[in-house]
Amino acid sequence: MHRLSQQKGKTMVSMKQQHVTRATAAVVAVLLLLMVAAPGGAAAQGRRGGGGGGRGYGYGGSGDHEWGGEGGGLSMDYYSMTCPHAQDIVRGVVFKALDKDPTLAASLLRLHFHDCFVRGCDASVLLDSTKAHGTAEKDALTDKSLRGFEVIDAVKAALEAQCPGTVSCADVLALAARDSVFMAGDLYYMVPMGRKDGYVSRAADTSALPAATLNASELIKVFVGDHGFTVPELVALSGAHTLGQAHCANFKNRLSGFGKAGKDPTMEAWMAASLAKTCKAGGDGATAKLDATSNAFDVEYYKGLQARRGLLTSDQTLLTGSPETATYVKQFADSPDDFFETFVQGMGRMGQLDLNPDGNVRISCRVLN
Ligand code: HEM
Ligand SMILES: *[C@@H]1O[C@H](CO)[C@@H](O)[C@H](O)[C@H]1NC(C)=O
Repeated sequence: MHRLSQQKGKTMVSMKQQHVTRATAAVVAVLLLLMVAAPGGAAAQGRRGGGGGGRGYGYGGSGDHEWGGEGGGLSMDYYSMTCPHAQDIVRGVVFKALDKDPTLAASLLRLHFHDCFVRGCDASVLLDSTKAHGTAEKDALTDKSLRGFEVIDAVKAALEAQCPGTVSCADVLALAARDSVFMAGDLYYMVPMGRKDGYVSRAADTSALPAATLNASELIKVFVGDHGFTVPELVALSGAHTLGQAHCANFKNRLSGFGKAGKDPTMEAWMAASLAKTCKAGGDGATAKLDATSNAFDVEYYKGLQARRGLLTSDQTLLTGSPETATYVKQFADSPDDFFETFVQGMGRMGQLDLNPDGNVRISCRVLN
């Protein structure tokens, strides 16, 4: 176990990363659920107490990570007075939901990404469309495949029962994403809190999300140019596609229209043929896994890219579209530690994009108070 902290302006961000075995994770999960069930149980402390004997390690170098936290005003103990068990409550509900349906880990992680890239991390992605305000983000074409809203509702209801009007929906998304990664893999990280919920959700704003057809230079423009991520963070965050699936609508561009070759030459031939069958049979709504182990948070995604088995254009281009991103694909394929460390760094930055200082705390994440 390793504690990292850094003073950046007025914002103190500390982060701890732990590496525990899958078996340990299961034990910890059960313990946490028991602790959540018992009011006053110090679940967070139990978790921090070495992960129940889990293997801990520190990351290399000075261990300091920058993620542009300036002005964010977030802190690890934001709810320590007002809702001390907030994180335990979130974890309890998320673990229960993922126990029933492990594929929801991907969906919850993606929700946080789609929240933060559109109007900042303000839970605008959770608002329902209304007659008065029109079509919300979640009803835009890009967001139609988002799932997990019911889990967020259940988390929020549990929080409201314990600490009414206290924990923002934007923080719930950040915590649920973290807990999902932990459930699906061997990675745990600290999430600073204090985000506020916004008042606006417009379908048109989802144009801020990167399209699946972008090449490496375009991805670099969006992530590095527009949002201030580093190139390794872009590659590590794309590694979120170690979880989940995509619909044919989002990868059929690779299956035809490449002249004589027909399919995208950067896709392995057997896989392209198999996907073409899938999409022919099922149409745009058919699905394929984003990597070979779509419920496990691991480095299979990067190994798949090396085997030319990336599903989306935006995945495979990280290896074939730019020597700079390719360097990190190779590095992360070989080193889960390097992937995890950079992923946590990227999630830290993503979780602080364009925070809304004038927001509030919604009672229901779907509707304005
Ligand atoms: C680099 C640019 C990115 C592009 C172009 C992109 C695009 C996509 C697309 C097209 C899908 C499939 C949607 C569907 O057909 O159902 C998808 C799924 C997913 N994305 Fe991304 N994404 C990107 C980055 C990210 C990031 C940064 C994260 C999170 C940190 C993320 C997390 C996910 C997850 C977990 C899924 C699977 C969802 C599920 O199975 O429910 N993606 N993404
Ligand atoms: C990436 O896409 C942009 C815009 O479509 C294009 O101008 C550029 O040539 C592409 N880069 C590569 C390496 O294909």
